[in-house]
Amino acid sequence: MVSEIVTLQAFLEQWAGEDPTKAEIASTVRTIASTGVGIADLVARGPLEEGLASARGTDPNAGGDTQKELDVIAEECLRAALRETPVAYLASEESEELIALNPRGNLVVAVDPLDGSSNIDTNVSVGTIYSILPFSDEERENPNAAVMKPGTNQLAAGFLAYGPATILVSTLGDGTQVFVYDRDRSEFILAREKVEIPVETKEYGINQSNMRQWDAPMSAWIKDCLAGAEGPRGKNFNMRWVGSMVADAFRIFTRGGVYLYPSDKRKGYENGRLRLIYEAFPVAMLTEQAGGGATDGKTRILDITPHHIHQRIPLVFGSKAEVEKIASYY
Ligand code: AHG
Ligand code: MN
Ligand code: MN
Repeated sequence: MVSEIVTLQAFLEQWAGEDPTKAEIASTVRTIASTGVGIADLVARGPLEEGLASARGTDPNAGGDTQKELDVIAEECLRAALRETPVAYLASEESEELIALNPRGNLVVAVDPLDGSSNIDTNVSVGTIYSILPFSDEERENPNAAVMKPGTNQLAAGFLAYGPATILVSTLGDGTQVFVYDRDRSEFILAREKVEIPVETKEYGINQSNMRQWDAPMSAWIKDCLAGAEGPRGKNFNMRWVGSMVADAFRIFTRGGVYLYPSDKRKGYENGRLRLIYEAFPVAMLTEQAGGGATDGKTRILDITPHHIHQRIPLVFGSKAEVEKIASYY
């Protein structure tokens, strides 16, 4: 915990100084954070707010998942708020194409407006994931080009998690910080300034019900974990899986661990489940900035060049030594 009280506003102002680009990034982060507070309020009403978890129509969203009412509301909130910022285009899980916002903007934002939608009606943490990218004049002709770049191109990234506390995990490219929303002050307060994910871990999170669908290296790794102290790993593992990546990620930022969503043999899961641009890229940047690793099993996530806005990617991230261990099975 940081001893003196530092608000998100003060932290961002200090970081931006007199730099105009940084000031634009800072105002975008602030806007996403305050929009998140509104989404958190809605989530907190739970079943009192009728229909938040009901399916919206019968058509799947751009990524092929069933859309929930709250997925759409969260996107609408972000879209409306970001119009007032220097963001030219928004890429969102819930919209097939880029959404045009501020015609003079110098940034592009990619979002998963609501991560963990299958948990909405179960009183489990859900969240919002974002990635902030540069937008150049040449890209005004073809804005899609701005998002078809490796993850190393991100200027900033983060996520909000709406749980017992509303938290913001943010990176501006210089470490990863955790802020907690203080309802008495109506401000996000800095709680951890330089997050360091423990390098070693005995904890993993994976949807093990898909085991029979995995490839040989993934199955071999889990088999060795399950063998515990008597097996080749020589230690007992523990399993934790929320099923909202933001919640699983926050646990890893707090005490280490690895999260895995590998590819599997089911139709539509050939490249795993998570989306590269607005799920894997931001989480990979936050993880690396906290000393952890993020791969698709073997290749560094941030080095991958996307070919489609809603492209999926197998994802492994968290404690560095274990992420490297998993790569060694491939
Ligand atoms: P979203 O709700 O945005 O579609 O993302 C859900 C993701 C992720 O949060 C979670 O870890 C994973 O999907 C859970 O998938 P399974 O239900 O297949 O386990
Ligand atoms: Mn998601
Ligand atoms: Mn989502």
